[in-house]
Amino acid sequence: MSDATLLYEGKAKRIYATDRPGILRCQYKDDATAFNAQKKGQIAGKGEVNCTVAALLFRYLEGAGIATHFVGQTGSTEMAVRAVTILPVEVVVRNRAAGTLCKRLGLERGKAIAPPLVEFFYKNDDLGDPLLTTDHIELLNLATPEQVQVLRQQALAIDTLLQQFFLQCQLELIDFKLEFGTDANGDILLADEISPDTCRLWNLADERVLDKDLFRFDLGDPVAGYREVLERVQAVAGELGQ
Ligand code: TMP
Ligand code: ASP
Repeated sequence: MSDATLLYEGKAKRIYATDRPGILRCQYKDDATAFNAQKKGQIAGKGEVNCTVAALLFRYLEGAGIATHFVGQTGSTEMAVRAVTILPVEVVVRNRAAGTLCKRLGLERGKAIAPPLVEFFYKNDDLGDPLLTTDHIELLNLATPEQVQVLRQQALAIDTLLQQFFLQCQLELIDFKLEFGTDANGDILLADEISPDTCRLWNLADERVLDKDLFRFDLGDPVAGYREVLERVQAVAGELGQ
């Protein structure tokens, strides 16, 4: 298949075929959506920030023994990734209460959560990505109980690693969402992206929001927030020799 063949277009990324077997090209867009695409807009430079941040974090996690789909960054908004079948279960890890957790359980925003909380959501836009129990996952055959165990273990290991990395960036990792996929051998790889779109990141000194909540809730300038995250992540990745 030619390099220009578009295989899939999502809200924030396009996936293209490549001439290399088992390898796809993932292009990050500036388009931003929130609340299941009820709110739409653009964040200038978001594609470049998210692609570069995700590339640096995937490389950091690979170095710490986490299997990911990442192959290499191939342009300012593009990376090569291994082809996987995405599991339709989004995995959210929370270190402090924010977002839908506060809404759902009435917790105060910012309340510490220890040990970290793992939640599963059904990746299904038509249903609005509802919260899943492990019994729901089994009922719908979305993943096997063994796979759910791997998702939970991997997500918690990734949380520890990312918290350490972001602390060096003077950022606190409040919560984040991961997606995983299976490769041709059935192995589970971390997929999708890790970026200010998919993480809540607060400035360590004053809890200033530097992530997509700037766009979701009109809290400030998302372009500046995303740039600040990129600069700090690049500096720390550079210090770590990546
Ligand atoms: P929530 O509090 O809105 O459920 O979000 C939890 C985390 O998941 C937060 O870091 C933002 C991220 N997230 C996504 O990456 N994609 C989504 O579609 C949603 C709703 C949340
Ligand atoms: N990306 C999601 C959407 O537009 C929502 C979000 O990130 O808040 O559906």
